[in-house]
Amino acid sequence: MKVLIADHPLITHKLTVLRDKETNSQVFRHLVEELVTLLAYEATREVKIHPVDIQTPVTKTRGAMLSTPRPVVVPILRAGLGMLEGMMRVIPSADVGFLGMVRDEKTLQASTYANRLPKDLKGRQCFILDPMLATGGTLIAAIQYLLDLGATDIIAICIISSPEGIKAVGDAFPNTNVHLVTGAVDEKLNEHGYIVPGLGDAGDRLYGVV
Ligand code: URA
Repeated sequence: MKVLIADHPLITHKLTVLRDKETNSQVFRHLVEELVTLLAYEATREVKIHPVDIQTPVTKTRGAMLSTPRPVVVPILRAGLGMLEGMMRVIPSADVGFLGMVRDEKTLQASTYANRLPKDLKGRQCFILDPMLATGGTLIAAIQYLLDLGATDIIAICIISSPEGIKAVGDAFPNTNVHLVTGAVDEKLNEHGYIVPGLGDAGDRLYGVV
């Protein structure tokens, strides 16, 4: 798996504020959106385009536009939803599919509880949004779900990743076109499956505890 750590100083700055436990939900949500916009810029570097001829006020010229079928953006519910707005700002004509995944806090196993996706993802670039790549269980299940629908080109955008999660996802998909774009690779996972230093529970910090 190709991993891109987008360690731009602005990303590191915003991440530091995001991690701070004093940062409230409103600021947290805003920062997540901004961070995703910056990460999306890197993640869409190889988005498919095709040449088009246009007429400027001055002359004819050849440019390029996004190809069809459009990419599909797939936020993983619940925390990935906080990343959707920032992603759509960069690529507003993308289609959006939803995948609801929950991890059992004891076994750390992920299971799907909801999905709303195109039936056929053949030939479509898919961008999975999930803020925290922790054990990798959720992301592996989500990637497998998209591969089973025919996706061949999958890019996961995670704000913070753990070394354990990156290894698990890489090992699970050794020969597929799966990439990861992340803002940081943290130190480790703790015994509860939380990323250290991390930022705590991303869903809770975005939307409050339910
Ligand atoms: N999910 C989170 O929200 N935070 C972690 O640290 C790990 C998984």
